Amino acid sequence: MQTNKEFILGLPKAELHVHIEGTLEPELAFRLAQKHRIALPYQNVAELRRAYDFSNLQSFLDIYYAGAAVLKDSDDFYELTLAYLKRAHADGVVHAEIFFDPQTHTERGIALQTVLDGINPALAEGEKSLGITHRLILCFLRHLSAAQAMQSLEQALPFKDCLAGVGLDSSEAGHPPHTFVAVFERARAEGLHAVAHAGEEGPPAYIIEALDLLHVDRIDHGVRCEEDPELVRRLARERMPLTVCPLSNLKLRVVERLQDHNLKRLLDQGVCVTVNSDDPAYFGGYIAENYSAAQKALGLTRRELATLARNSFEAAFLAPADKAAWIGKVDSYLRSADTD
Ligand code: HPA
Ligand code: ZN
Repeated sequence: MQTNKEFILGLPKAELHVHIEGTLEPELAFRLAQKHRIALPYQNVAELRRAYDFSNLQSFLDIYYAGAAVLKDSDDFYELTLAYLKRAHADGVVHAEIFFDPQTHTERGIALQTVLDGINPALAEGEKSLGITHRLILCFLRHLSAAQAMQSLEQALPFKDCLAGVGLDSSEAGHPPHTFVAVFERARAEGLHAVAHAGEEGPPAYIIEALDLLHVDRIDHGVRCEEDPELVRRLARERMPLTVCPLSNLKLRVVERLQDHNLKRLLDQGVCVTVNSDDPAYFGGYIAENYSAAQKALGLTRRELATLARNSFEAAFLAPADKAAWIGKVDSYLRSADTD
């Protein structure tokens, strides 16, 4: 009898919500700090891990941005990205749509070209040696201004061919989507997809703004939609995907206990929810741990786990034929497994 963990590992999955800077494991952070002679405010890996005890989104972001300071040259970004792809591959990820935060790097004098010269060859290597396909999504930091976001987009347009879309992340409360209408409009006019973090800590109104003003293709997190039943009905009706990150929500105290998480309730209402890892080095688990923790806490059946995986391909920025092929593989995997 296959265990649930084995079932989850073998289930073909797309990861649609992972910040590459959030995959920086403490061991790599220390190695890169040593390489670049940067002093970290922690004595060792264990002490750094102990600092990963967050009370909310901002308490995490403070450590996350500080950690990114060890990423300096293209080799660092290459190593970071390839390490994530290997880890994701071990978890049964076959397609990854990866966020990166260029402003975190350009603000401290690291050129966008340097960042991309590391990430892109790693993505190519991951596809060649692991068979993981990929998309790259450039995120704007919402705690910075709309003008800075526009400047970041303009810097990135010469590299448009390697970008699938733009996103919006960082401190949510007090930084509503409507601030970024012009930059999203410009990005969409350039043929880029759009996504935005909304309804993680921010209110349901931010989700509605992301839909109506930024015209996003997916909502990242979106779990606070539940406070507005009409919004939940709209998300279900429009099959608007939510990229949900259960362990992130637990670690950042969006929910107090995983048993309270609304993933299953949203699934039951027909919302296209997906499961993702967000910042796995900080939140205690890559994608399989997220599926597994949600399965245990919410009592998800194998059929429901397969629906989550199917949703991940439906919501991916893949060609329709590729989506259909992966959904077919999920279906045949489920048929061949013991179902409950
Ligand atoms: N929310 C907002 N910004 C982020 C996150 C998140 O969960 N992870 C990395 N940047
Ligand atoms: Zn995120």
